[in-house]
Amino acid sequence: MSTAPTGLPASPTRSHVRSLARCEAARTHQDLPRVFTLRGRDWDLLDEVFAPDLSPSTELALDFLGLSAPSAPLGAGPAPVSRGRMLEIGSGAGVVSVLAALSGYDRVVAADINEHAVRNTGLNIARHGVGDRVRAVHSDLFAALPPAERFDTVFWSSNYVLAPGDYVYRNDCEQAFVDPGYAAHRRFLAEAGNWTTPGGAVLLHFSSRGDLPLLRRLAASCGRSLLVRRSQEVREGEDPVEHLLLEVTPAL
Ligand SMILES: C[S@@+](CC[C@H](N)C(=O)[O-])C[C@H]1O[C@@H](n2cnc3c(N)ncnc32)[C@H](O)[C@@H]1O
Repeated sequence: MSTAPTGLPASPTRSHVRSLARCEAARTHQDLPRVFTLRGRDWDLLDEVFAPDLSPSTELALDFLGLSAPSAPLGAGPAPVSRGRMLEIGSGAGVVSVLAALSGYDRVVAADINEHAVRNTGLNIARHGVGDRVRAVHSDLFAALPPAERFDTVFWSSNYVLAPGDYVYRNDCEQAFVDPGYAAHRRFLAEAGNWTTPGGAVLLHFSSRGDLPLLRRLAASCGRSLLVRRSQEVREGEDPVEHLLLEVTPAL
């Protein structure tokens, strides 16, 4: 593969410049609704927050995790089977965390580095009546979590496009799209396993817009392996993009 002057791959699908342009287009979208509908439910959307209705990735994450909450009002159907505790890193508008609670997770912590996203998740927790089970937290990965907390599932639908290591975010929304030098991914790979219960799983939603060979090298450097648990190809505009659910395990 040819290499751009930045040292990053020149593939248009993996270009951070194109991802940042997609971010800007979403931020400035004239008709971006303040309330959108997804999986038969209405959701609030605040400025500077990743818009689940402009990308297939939120719905793919729901499919990968098997989160298919009934659209019946809370308490109207049979209680779903308990799935334990979940930590969602990067909750954005909160769709995955809220539907996790409605699909059987007893307790969900929804963390995001973007304060607008934390407020947005709070709005959707209230809208869907799951405040007894879901807590929104402002946190850079695991930094703000009580040290003794453990989870059966740790999940991040990440900002998997690689940007140059010295790239400085121009706004909060860009943190949903690119990760300079994969610094956050490196920390996630190294630290996520410390937050699981025995037998718990660390899951990362990644895609072919990201640099999987580099991610595998980073995982190996901190004693981790990456297993592909699910994959699905979708068209995103002109680009065929393969979405992946990776499990981060101790090195095999
Ligand atoms: C692709 S978006 C996914 C949003 C949401 N989960 C969804 O599926 O709609 C990635 C999210 O990760 C968050 N994020 C990026 N870096 C983070 C970090 N270091 N700690 C916590 N959250 C982070 C972003 O703010 C963004 O909300």
